[in-house]
Amino acid sequence: MSHKLAIIGFGGMGGWHWKNITEKIDAITVKGVWDIRKEAREKAEENGLYAYGSLNELLEDSEVDLVTVATPNDFHKPLVIDCLRAGKHVICEKPVALNSSELREMMEVAKETGRLFSVHQNRRWDKDFCIVKEIIGKEILGKPYFIESRVQGSRGAMHGWRGHKVNGGGMLLDWGVHLIDQLLIMIDSPVVCVDAHLQSIFSEEVDDNIKLFLYFENGISALLEMATNCFINHPRWHVSCTDGTAVVQDWSCQGKMVQLATDAQMEWADDIVYTEAGPTRTMVPRPAFTMKELELPTVQTDWSDYYKNIVAVLDEGAELIVKPEQVLRVMTVVDTAFESYRRKEGIHCHI
Ligand SMILES: NC(=O)c1ccc[n+]([C@@H]2O[C@H](COP(=O)([O-])OP(=O)(O)OC[C@H]3O[C@@H](n4cnc5c(N)ncnc54)[C@H](O)[C@@H]3O)[C@@H](O)[C@H]2O)c1
Repeated sequence: MSHKLAIIGFGGMGGWHWKNITEKIDAITVKGVWDIRKEAREKAEENGLYAYGSLNELLEDSEVDLVTVATPNDFHKPLVIDCLRAGKHVICEKPVALNSSELREMMEVAKETGRLFSVHQNRRWDKDFCIVKEIIGKEILGKPYFIESRVQGSRGAMHGWRGHKVNGGGMLLDWGVHLIDQLLIMIDSPVVCVDAHLQSIFSEEVDDNIKLFLYFENGISALLEMATNCFINHPRWHVSCTDGTAVVQDWSCQGKMVQLATDAQMEWADDIVYTEAGPTRTMVPRPAFTMKELELPTVQTDWSDYYKNIVAVLDEGAELIVKPEQVLRVMTVVDTAFESYRRKEGIHCHI
């Protein structure tokens, strides 16, 4: 079946949806765009798209069965609800809403109307994440126990509307929802404690530098870090497992795994060893022959699989990959992180 899609909000990400769908998804045609800015509507027309004169005109277009909402975050809830009530299937950009109670309202309307409702958590298809998911899922390095996931920039304040509270700006709602979603997908266990350190170094109204600790019921812990003022980056991922360590350096996915060599037996001497940092037993470097270096697993990923799944759900009743219930967990962690920082303490929970 062929589907006609309209995009609400034709800025950076709205343009990406249009391009990605047009190039890669045969079953969806992007028909038109609604944007409150005239220049954005003109850009749509220049690219051969129909520019709606109002939101209502889009909602009343019976040819359109699917809508992608890609506006600033504070408009997501009302727009998604309007589209669902108009009988459209809806894909909403992340963060789906400003908090979990807004998302619950949206989910209620999706249930009432029986329309498809999903969130564009596209970073589930990022190559770096899929590599780490493979290492953890297959226990390639034994049992994972601590995962560090970081995105680090150095451009200072949050940009444009992302710097304003009223628009749902701030790093936790911007990148936080991606990094949290990735962890919740990868670790099959409830979050039992959230400890958040949110700083506003350059953005007056919102958080722009974050350290977020998540503790899972199965004993795994994670540190998520998002920075706008980092000039010497840590690796994108650092994964500690019982039999070794994995590092994915950056989005280009350079990196390696180092594992214990199973055939290399060695005895640790009981004596203190003198290193450049003085005497130590615990931190004596392990001899090279007791370790082996492995290449990171190879994975095939494609962001367009998100929309391929949407088509499969609509046409063949396939299972939706990005489910609102999963995103509700993400938004509940976000709410708890804000509360943790407000109270300046870790919050026990079961999410
Ligand atoms: N999934 C991802 O990887 C990813 C990446 C970037 C942005 N995003 C998300 O996409 C959304 C848009 O971000 P962006 O970077 O494209 O922002 P942007 O500022 O580039 O574009 C937003 C567009 O929405 C329009 N707009 C604002 N209010 C509107 C309204 N009420 N009705 C119709 N149009 C309206 C603006 O005129 C603008 O053209 C955000 O929710 C953001 O978090 C997701």
